[in-house]
Amino acid sequence: MTVRWGVIGTGGIARSFVGDCTAAGVEFVAVGSRTLESARSFAAEFGIPRAHGSYADLVADDEVDAVYVATPHSRHAEDALLAIAAGKHVLVEKAFTITADEARRVVDAARRADVAVMEAMWTRFLPQMAMVREVVAEGRIGRVRLVEATHHQALPDDPRHRLNDPALGGGAMLDLGIYPISFAVDVLGIPTSVVAAGTLSEQGVDTQMGLVLTHEGGAQSMLHFGLDLRSPNTASVIGEDGRIDLDSTWFTPTTWRLRDRDGVVVEEFDGREELTGYGHEARAFESMVTSGTHEGGLMDPEETIAIMALMDEARRQVGVRYAADRG
Ligand SMILES: NC(=O)c1ccc[n+]([C@@H]2O[C@H](COP(=O)([O-])OP(=O)(O)OC[C@H]3O[C@@H](n4cnc5c(N)ncnc54)[C@H](OP(=O)(O)O)[C@@H]3O)[C@@H](O)[C@H]2O)c1
Repeated sequence: MTVRWGVIGTGGIARSFVGDCTAAGVEFVAVGSRTLESARSFAAEFGIPRAHGSYADLVADDEVDAVYVATPHSRHAEDALLAIAAGKHVLVEKAFTITADEARRVVDAARRADVAVMEAMWTRFLPQMAMVREVVAEGRIGRVRLVEATHHQALPDDPRHRLNDPALGGGAMLDLGIYPISFAVDVLGIPTSVVAAGTLSEQGVDTQMGLVLTHEGGAQSMLHFGLDLRSPNTASVIGEDGRIDLDSTWFTPTTWRLRDRDGVVVEEFDGREELTGYGHEARAFESMVTSGTHEGGLMDPEETIAIMALMDEARRQVGVRYAADRG
C-alpha cells in the first residue's frame, strides 16, 4: 500500500518537509491552506495534484490517507483533531501541542478513530541516533550519568512572528527546547523531576531557558535553549566508562565521536548523509500506517504526552502561560 499524503499549512517547515520527502519518494497528493492562492502556489512548486483553500477541504479529500500538520503550535491540536475526525492518519509537527491535556485529547481521538498518530520529532529518526542508542545499549560508555544538549538560534525579533507571539505558542522551549528535551528522554527516560530557570520577553514567552532533569537512578540532563543567541549546538552523552560527543549541529545529520573514560577517541562516526531526517521520519510513519500498528516505535504518543507534561511544568516554574492553559 502506498500512503498518499496531504499537507496542512504552506509555511517554512511544510516547504522543507515536502521538498525533502518528495526527493525521498514520498507521495503528496494534496495541500490545504487558509487561502486557495497559497495552496495553489505550493502545489505548483512541488508538483502536488490538488490544492484546497481550507484545512477542512484538505481533510475531506478522499484520496488523502495521512495528513502532515505544519501549522503554529497553537493550532496543532485543532488541526490534528480535524484530520482524525475525517479518518486520516496524522503526523503533527513538534511541539505536538501546547499542553499535555491537548496532547492527550489528540492521542485519545486517534485511538478511538483507529488511525496512526505521531509527533514529527525528526531527529529521532536519523541513522546517527540509532547508532547512539546502540552504543549506549551495548554498555560501551557504561551507565549514563549525564546528558548535555543545547539548541540556540538567533531568530527574528519581530513581535508578530509566531516564535515571539504567545497566542501562536511562541517561545524557545516549544520550538527549540523540545529537541534537547526529547533527546534526553530518548536516552535516559522520562525524568522524575524538572527544575527550570528562564528569561521571558516583554510579550511573556521564554527567550531562553535552562533545565535540570533528574532521571531514575539519579542521572541528570543539563539542557539549555534560546531563540535570541547562537551557540555551537553540540550534545554529549556521558557515562561512567566513556562518552559520546555529537558535533555541531547535533540534531541534524552530523559527525560524532566515542571516547573512553580518559577522553581518548576510540571511534569516530559520520552521520552526514544524502537524506535529511524528514525522509526517515515520513517512512517510519508510513510503516505505522501500513502495518496497522498506529503508534509505538521511536516516538510513541505516550512519551510525547509525558514530554508535554514536563514542558507544562517547566513553563509553570518560569511563568510562561498560554491561552490553552486555561483549558
Ligand atoms: N521539524 C523541523 O525541523 C521544524 C522546523 C521549523 C518549524 N517546525 C515546526 O513546524 C510548525 C510550523 O513552523 P513554521 O516555521 O513552518 O511556521 P510558518 O513558516 O509560520 O508556517 C506556519 C503555517 O501555518 C499556517 N497557519 C495557520 N494559522 C496561522 C496563523 N495564525 N499564523 C501563522 N500561520 C498560520 C500558515 O499556512 P497557510 O497560510 O497555508 O494556512 C503558515 O504558513 C511549528 O510547529 C514548528 O515548531 C519544525
